[in-house]
Amino acid sequence: MSSPGLLLRCAGCGTTLSPEAAAPFVCPNRGADDADHIIERQLTLPQSAGVIDEQATHPFMRYRARLSSFAVWQAAGRSAAAFDALVMALDDAVAAVDGRGFARSPWQPLTLAAMPEAASPTTSDWTVHAKLELHGVAGSHKARHLFGLMLWLRVQEALGRLPTRPNLAIASCGNAALAAAVVARAADWPISVFVPTDASAAVLQRLAALQAEIVVCERQPGVPGDPTVNRFREAVQAGALPFCCQGTDNGLTIEGGETLGWELAEHIAATGDLDTLWVQVGGGALGTGCWSGLQDAQSAGVIDGLPRLMTVQTRGAWPLGRAWLRAVGRLLGRPEVADLDLSSIDMEQIATTARDAQLYWQSSPTVSDLDLRQNWRQHMAPWPTTPHSVAHGILDDETYDGRRLVAAMLASGGWPVVASEDALTAAVDALNPPHPVTATGAAGFAGLLQVGQHADAAQLVGKRHAVLLTGIVRA
Ligand SMILES: Cc1ncc(COP(=O)(O)O)c(C=O)c1O
Repeated sequence: MSSPGLLLRCAGCGTTLSPEAAAPFVCPNRGADDADHIIERQLTLPQSAGVIDEQATHPFMRYRARLSSFAVWQAAGRSAAAFDALVMALDDAVAAVDGRGFARSPWQPLTLAAMPEAASPTTSDWTVHAKLELHGVAGSHKARHLFGLMLWLRVQEALGRLPTRPNLAIASCGNAALAAAVVARAADWPISVFVPTDASAAVLQRLAALQAEIVVCERQPGVPGDPTVNRFREAVQAGALPFCCQGTDNGLTIEGGETLGWELAEHIAATGDLDTLWVQVGGGALGTGCWSGLQDAQSAGVIDGLPRLMTVQTRGAWPLGRAWLRAVGRLLGRPEVADLDLSSIDMEQIATTARDAQLYWQSSPTVSDLDLRQNWRQHMAPWPTTPHSVAHGILDDETYDGRRLVAAMLASGGWPVVASEDALTAAVDALNPPHPVTATGAAGFAGLLQVGQHADAAQLVGKRHAVLLTGIVRA
């Protein structure tokens, strides 16, 4: 039996998983070769299914037609009203744990001219909108990913496909761990959180209050990759469910983040097209969710076109930037591009490279995309040194969900920005007050400020911009 309209398919090798399985999260061929073995959900809904429920305000009801959990629920003969009841019960429980439930987040104009730290002659006539994702559940957008996953688990449980509750597991040093622990507590589901040795005392205290099991992970000399991720994967191997914000370890985590892309699309439809969207990137699920939601919204006719995507990482670690350079070097047959240093590169040079790459991509999108899917591991590798930055939440060794971001930059003509520590600090100072956002959560805006310093920035990235402010400063 299959769920009509829902396909769970590996982006790298095409293997499909049954939507009737309780945990169809990871491609069985992961690690077998250089392909990007990530499970992606494809919905082939009839036009009549509708995409936005205009009557609903809760994001997981308003866009329920886009959720795998809802597709599976409906395929089992259950009603939308019963699905909504499940969403509301979980949301009420989240509110009881965290003091707030889910809601569409605000979209506000930022006035750069009123921010001394952001003022630049080039940007004085730019319009910048900010999506405020810092006042939501657990203080960041991460809870969206995890609420989506918990809905999936609750649906499987209600349909009798998950008779016991295996431990949940996540590797994180901050926002994702807090969000996972809040949602797990709300669902009364046991969770283990794998944290690094330098996790903050405040985070550890909150995790303990949420009754999460805390596992501190040391970096092992000579062992590549993030030690928390390594330990987390061992736990999953031993039977835990990956309750994480990385598509490599749970492909279904992206769609909770897509609710953000859908909201963005509705804002854009209301306030006008954007030239450029700036997104801070750590593991890459935030950017991937936003972009995938926007693409979906474009296909559904909610917006006409897509903005240029500019991704932002730090000088401490820019694995996505390096992967983009390697992919561009390969596509254009210019291997020297792979060795460019994004932390010191001239903006003209990178903008020209991005334009060349976009032209190439547009001339053969299907072949180029397939090449990226099949050779992704040649582009993405763990960052070789231990990174540091004020934006410590985006110092992931690897951009796990980077491939769709590279494709999005190639298709849209954007490029990866490596923000300086000065730009990151200036962004925080410019926004605080009124927005108590961390350097991690303001990094996209920092990228905009940095690029906005260049005299010809408006020609290269336009004048209509949006940023996401994603993480609140914790006491
Ligand atoms: C506040 C905040 N914003 C943005 C990000 C980046 O999200 P992603 O890791 O999905 O790229 C993170 C990641 O931890 C974060 O904590």
